Amino acid sequence: DQAQTIQRELLAWYNKNKRNLPWRQNKDPYKIWVSEIMLQQTRVDSVIPYFQRFIERFPSIEDLANAPEEQVIKAWEGLGYYSRAKNLHAAAKEIVFNGDGKIPSDRKSILKLKGIGSYTAGAILSIAYGKKVPAVDGNVMRVFSRLFALADDIHSSSTRKKMESIAEQLIPEENPGDFNQALMELGALICTPASPTCLFCPVRSVCDAYEQGIEEQLPRKKKA
Ligand code: ADE
Repeated sequence: DQAQTIQRELLAWYNKNKRNLPWRQNKDPYKIWVSEIMLQQTRVDSVIPYFQRFIERFPSIEDLANAPEEQVIKAWEGLGYYSRAKNLHAAAKEIVFNGDGKIPSDRKSILKLKGIGSYTAGAILSIAYGKKVPAVDGNVMRVFSRLFALADDIHSSSTRKKMESIAEQLIPEENPGDFNQALMELGALICTPASPTCLFCPVRSVCDAYEQGIEEQLPRKKKA
């Protein structure tokens, strides 16, 4: 069926075509966390050198927690949206000085940390801890809008909830982190906002928008 085809074809495509990104070298929850915070508002290409420098400077969550805030801000200089750095630092201190030093592996606890919302929680839990939790960002919403020909406004919060429940049903038991990243990767490389390259898409055969020829009209930005 559609779900199984999506799981199989998407994972096979990802394993062959994924970009070799520095935060994909291992599953250290701290490094996954730093990368996901940087990637929230910044493009992959711009994040790479910042991520590498940040990890060299603060190799562990203890190093980050023990650093003075101005050093953390300094390491963030140029990335912008400095509240991300302040929240990251505050959360590291919370974990190291008031917690057990480990980034929580359950959704309820991780969501209490500053700067971690539904998407970031899902990314960390699935990629670092192998949990079956959705990680629905803008890329994934675009992919789902097209795969299932959904005309919902992707800027509304009820749409995000709907997309998360679709993702929950779609995520496989095995490799949930790879599956979530495969959806993001498909959105970044193939199922792009303008002129998606459907001819190279691994799930074209089960894409409702492609079948109807409406992939360029989705996602809808506003409700009629
Ligand atoms: N954007 C956000 N998280 C990402 C990830 N893990 N890989 C690629 N792009 C991303």
